[in-house]
Amino acid sequence: MERKICENVIKERHSTRSFSGEEVSMADVMEILEAGRLAPSAKNRQPWAFYVLSNEEKENVVNMFIKRLEEHNTEATGFASARIMKEASKVVLVFMDDKNEYDRTTDLLSVGACIENMLLRATELDVSSLWVYDVCVVADELKEIAKASGRLVSAVILGKSNTDSKRAIKKELKDVIINKNI
Ligand SMILES: Cc1cc2nc3c(=O)[nH]c(=O)nc-3n(C[C@H](O)[C@H](O)[C@H](O)COP(=O)(O)O)c2cc1C
Repeated sequence: MERKICENVIKERHSTRSFSGEEVSMADVMEILEAGRLAPSAKNRQPWAFYVLSNEEKENVVNMFIKRLEEHNTEATGFASARIMKEASKVVLVFMDDKNEYDRTTDLLSVGACIENMLLRATELDVSSLWVYDVCVVADELKEIAKASGRLVSAVILGKSNTDSKRAIKKELKDVIINKNI
């Protein structure tokens, strides 16, 4: 029975890029962060820390992000993320401990596992999500705002979906298995 629930959530999870503005409760956000906390990590270092942006603080961050994009005339994807952050209810900033340079790759993999746990739990709670990296152009400013000790590596945008999102096309299983006879 447990396995079935997991399978459905994995299939249901997808990136959402249009949000209704409807609130996601802090109780749900805490459940999502809890799922991240429980993720596997190399040497059990748990190299992550979270900071939740909402309301006015989120608005201010979005405006600062747009200003930076305009100054640097960067690609359009950043502007799209800014618009999505504006529409969504919450943005979780994900920081990674960066003291241990030697283990940077395994720490990044661990943070990836942590974020995927969050996305799956969000799906289970009927909260739509988008994993974004492009907000890292304002990593230094966000580190300062969050008073974080680590480096910003991603953000998870959370909200209620507006429309049925177009699903990304995935490679077939046969195209990603290298074995010839399996
Ligand atoms: C490390 C990482 C960074 C990502 N950064 C962005 C981003 O900056 N902007 C964005 O719109 N989507 C971003 N995505 C979402 C991917 O575009 C998305 O997962 C992919 O197109 C597959 O679609 P799906 O999530 O619906 O399966 C990112 C995903 C990952 C794993």
